Amino acid sequence: MKKTLSVTLIFWIFLGATAWAKGVPKKREAADVRGQRSWEQNCQHCHGVDLSGTGTTAVAIPGGVPDLRGTLTPENREGQLNVILEGQRYMPAFRETWYNPVRDAKLVLDYMVLLETGARKPGTPLPTRTVTTEP
Ligand code: HEC
Repeated sequence: MKKTLSVTLIFWIFLGATAWAKGVPKKREAADVRGQRSWEQNCQHCHGVDLSGTGTTAVAIPGGVPDLRGTLTPENREGQLNVILEGQRYMPAFRETWYNPVRDAKLVLDYMVLLETGARKPGTPLPTRTVTTEP
C-alpha cells in the first residue's frame, strides 16, 4: 500500500516537471552560427576556407576537391543537398553524422552561400548569438 502511494507520488511529480519544462522558452544558437560551426568542423578541411577546394586534406583526395565558387545556385540546391546527405565519389555522406540531417545539410549550405556572397568572412570567430524559441 505504502509502495503504491510513493510510486503514484513520483509519477505526479514527474508529470508536473515535464509540464513546467514545456513552458520554459529554449535558447539556441542562431541558424547561421550553427551552419558556420558545422562547416568549420565537417567541410572546410576539404573544401577550403573560401570554397575553392584547397583545404588541408584536399591534397589527399585523388583528383582533388572541386572549386564550388559559382555553383551554389538555387537550381543546384536540391542536387547539392543530396550529395551532402548521400555522398558522391570522394565526397563523404553526412546523413549518419547529424541528428537532423536534412535540416543540418540546409544550414551548412546556407552558410556556404553566405561565404560565397561575402556576407560572412571565412575564419570569423564563432559569435555567441542565440535566438529564443517560444514553446
Ligand atoms: C574528404 C573531403 C570532403 C569533405 C570532408 C567534404 N567534401 Fe564536399 N566534396 C568533396 C569532393 C571530392 C567533391 C566532389 C565529388 C565528386 O567527385 O562528384 C565534393 C563535392 C561537394 C559538393 C558539390 C556537389 C555537386 O555535385 O554539385 C558540395 C555542395 C559539397 N561537396 C558540400 C560539402 C559539405 C557541405 C561538406 C561538409 C558537411 C563537405 N562537402 C565535406 C570532398 C569533401
